[in-house]
Amino acid sequence: MATLHDSGSAATPVPLIRPKYPGELVLRLVRNPLEHFTRLAREHGDVVHVRMGREHIYLVSHPDLVREVLVGNQRNFKKGRALERARLLLGDGLLTSEGEHHLRHRRMIQPEFHRQHVAQYADTMVEVAARRTATWRDGAPVDMHKEMSAVALSIASQTLFGADVGHESEEIGAALEATFGTFMRTFYMPFGDLVLRLPIPSSRRFWQGAHRVQDTVNRLIAERRASGEDRPDLLSLLLRARDVEGDGGGMTDDEVRDEVLTFFLAGHETTANALTWSWVLLAAHPEVADRMAAEARAGGDGPLTAEHLPRLPYTRMVLSESMRLYPPAWTVARRALGDFTLGTHRIPANALVVTSQWVIQRDPRWWPDPDRFDPERWRPELAVDRPKFAYFPFGGGARMCIGEHFAWMEGILVLATIARQWHFDVRPGTTVTPHATITLRPRGGAPMTVHRRTNT
Ligand code: HEM
Repeated sequence: MATLHDSGSAATPVPLIRPKYPGELVLRLVRNPLEHFTRLAREHGDVVHVRMGREHIYLVSHPDLVREVLVGNQRNFKKGRALERARLLLGDGLLTSEGEHHLRHRRMIQPEFHRQHVAQYADTMVEVAARRTATWRDGAPVDMHKEMSAVALSIASQTLFGADVGHESEEIGAALEATFGTFMRTFYMPFGDLVLRLPIPSSRRFWQGAHRVQDTVNRLIAERRASGEDRPDLLSLLLRARDVEGDGGGMTDDEVRDEVLTFFLAGHETTANALTWSWVLLAAHPEVADRMAAEARAGGDGPLTAEHLPRLPYTRMVLSESMRLYPPAWTVARRALGDFTLGTHRIPANALVVTSQWVIQRDPRWWPDPDRFDPERWRPELAVDRPKFAYFPFGGGARMCIGEHFAWMEGILVLATIARQWHFDVRPGTTVTPHATITLRPRGGAPMTVHRRTNT
């Protein structure tokens, strides 16, 4: 297995890869970023230096170097370009804030995302999945991306605001998604933030959507504050959170709003993708789907609960493998604050350091036959051999996903609840391919046919 070899010699600059023609790299990136990054890494090595406009980008593709960036050297970085831009929408929520503000909020919110705390949301997750599937008919066509987005959105709404703001939170979700859609389309544009400021229809829609979402959430916060109610949802949790290790204070309403929008967006889009890709893979591997269904059915007839999780190890293996092949967050980027040494390489201040789950989680050095879907890789005895950052769907270090336990629980319970009763085919003549925006979505949806499982 390849390891990092430190020659002990002084660090050297990483040579710049020159494009074959002007604009080559931008073109490749816009056309197919997944293929572009994979080729750069496989052809040029673990640290690749390219330029796009004034931006110096370093693609880092060795797990040990990724650990250095995300964990070992994390103080030397701030968030990368996409998240700098996401501030337009998400303000100073956990995903986009920096420094002391981020630290304070993370300290206040983190305890509520421990495994035992998120278990209280298990029943909502199962109920939402069961309710949605009750509308399905044997043999009917469905777009699984649409279905899983609706499930994840509803789970995000109900866990944030409680069940009784149903239609309102669905509206927030829809507006947020439309707004985020515009935002994602501008993502790879070199002047995307300027585009959003031009008086053109798509930019106008972006701001209208953003303001509508903010106004609605502001109102929900004001109502909850006025009622003085403490409910078992994330909104109440954010309103009562105190910085007990710091000044003891809470959050302002604007701060709560930014966190609410962040949870809404970070929480549902990624999970919806993880679920969708799992069904796409299961449709192509019916023997795996059958085994997963048998495991889920062994839990008895009643609805699944948080207590069932330890008895669903195969479902967890399936989800792990699905997020290996189709990581919902397929890159994590950081901006270097000062010059630094990475292995034997010198990286200058202000460089954009990009790590890609897509590239590393399909690297044959860590994953034999990397493109093959094989949940068996996740048998515990096989996992011990791999470097930690050969798999990092939730990132790492101080900015690691705060919702990781929530996401595992949601993913496993929704998959198992659905698998008990249904299985799926990808419709003949269609192939579901990934579309890499900020998250990894299926391009044009995931058209499938649902089939009711027989009781045998
Ligand atoms: C399969 C589902 C999910 C995946 C793959 C995922 C992935 C990630 C990744 C890679 C990051 C780190 C980004 C970076 O370092 O730049 C992140 C951060 C974050 N995620 Fe998730 N996430 C998922 C689900 C969730 C859920 C369910 C929630 C909330 C309930 C959530 C909330 C957040 C927040 C607030 C952050 C920012 C944390 C910080 O910077 O302190 N995520 N997520």
